[in-house]
Amino acid sequence: MPAIAIIGAQWGDEGKGKATDLLGSSVDYVVKFNGGNNAGHTVVIGDEKYALHLLPSGILTPGCTPVIGNGVVIDLDVLFHEIDGLEARGIDTSRLVVSASAHVIPDYNRTIDKVTERFLGSRRIGTTGRGIGPTYADKMNRIGIRVQDLFDESILRQKVEGALELKSQILTKVYNRKAPGVDEIVDGLLVHADRLRPYVADTVLLLNQALDRGETVLLEAGQATLLDVDHGTYPFVTSSSATAGGACTGSGIPPMRMDQVIGIVKAYTTRVGEGPFPTELFDDAGEHLRKVGHEYGTTTGRPRRCGWYDSVVARYAARVNGVTDFVLTKLDVLTGLEQVPVCVAYDVNGVRHDEMPVNQTDFHHAKPIFEYLPGWWEDISGARTFADLPENAQNYVKAVEKLSGARISAVGVGPARDETCVVHPLV
Ligand code: IMP
Repeated sequence: MPAIAIIGAQWGDEGKGKATDLLGSSVDYVVKFNGGNNAGHTVVIGDEKYALHLLPSGILTPGCTPVIGNGVVIDLDVLFHEIDGLEARGIDTSRLVVSASAHVIPDYNRTIDKVTERFLGSRRIGTTGRGIGPTYADKMNRIGIRVQDLFDESILRQKVEGALELKSQILTKVYNRKAPGVDEIVDGLLVHADRLRPYVADTVLLLNQALDRGETVLLEAGQATLLDVDHGTYPFVTSSSATAGGACTGSGIPPMRMDQVIGIVKAYTTRVGEGPFPTELFDDAGEHLRKVGHEYGTTTGRPRRCGWYDSVVARYAARVNGVTDFVLTKLDVLTGLEQVPVCVAYDVNGVRHDEMPVNQTDFHHAKPIFEYLPGWWEDISGARTFADLPENAQNYVKAVEKLSGARISAVGVGPARDETCVVHPLV
């Protein structure tokens, strides 16, 4: 089997875990290739609920090897906190593999993330405050600290000294904060070195060899297409590459080895943090989606902004990622509505746009043009095949598929792992 990527097609929190579950035991490796503990996915297994931020969801699947790829930024305190939490609940985490080239999030970057947001005031991004942006910036500036540096104390010290030369100036002179000492940072990282060592490997070699043997590698994106640093609603984006291209660079798996890209798209839209969101609802309908869909952030607990399905966004995501299959999640949340609006295009200052406006200012001014589809009242949580869905729900799925640029292969009909209606088997 080749490598398969799972990508969020909106602004995150689409329910990527659903697709991972559908692939189930056929997956040998699950790779997180971007982001860090800014992500958050909830996996429900039976009566147990697991909220993961940094660990790939494959950690919960026996027989599957979870991998943290080179494109990830790792907060080591969070990594071990999550490992301890799972171990305490009887989950074996010993199969985890961590790339030696992944970057770590030093404490000063968490501080810089938070103070920068405060400094920006009304121009803030609404980050998760986890130090993600400053750590990716360090990577690009070539002053980052990588996992492998923890195993060579003198190199680690040199790198921390180099980074702090710049960071101390920023913290003290720009933000009027106390700068940490080199020892404090080095010690804070080294404290994890012995425990980290057994997990660390050359993950590029490991994954490519697995593909050579015909094993299946699942590349699981954090965040989503519209939060991608290149293809998202910049600057209101995260700092990593959350699209299918990022799956290659963040894992070291070449593009030609990947022939399935599964886009996850919610039957409506949500967003956390700041930034444009054309179909956003500010009325009771938005509150209804938030309540019924339990739309509160897994990582920060923030209420998510809610709006109707935006097929312009879905088409864009299909194109940027080369989506081969969509998984439409949380259709059950739309049950009980008289009519279900779907955004088919935008009106920007009187001009119709069927595709994403090229200009960010236009996207900020985009007003949704809706089509209204008849709703359904039947409980759909028991549907396991397309034919099990009530006629109006079927019509909604068909209409959304036609508008979104790729086939819909599965539909989420409830929060539990098995509450999924399969239209076309994914593997
Ligand atoms: P950062 O990733 O913490 O730098 O935050 C940048 C933007 O991405 C903010 O708007 C966050 O709310 C958003 N963001 C980061 N991670 C997630 C996620 O997992 N789901 C949804 N939004 C996210």
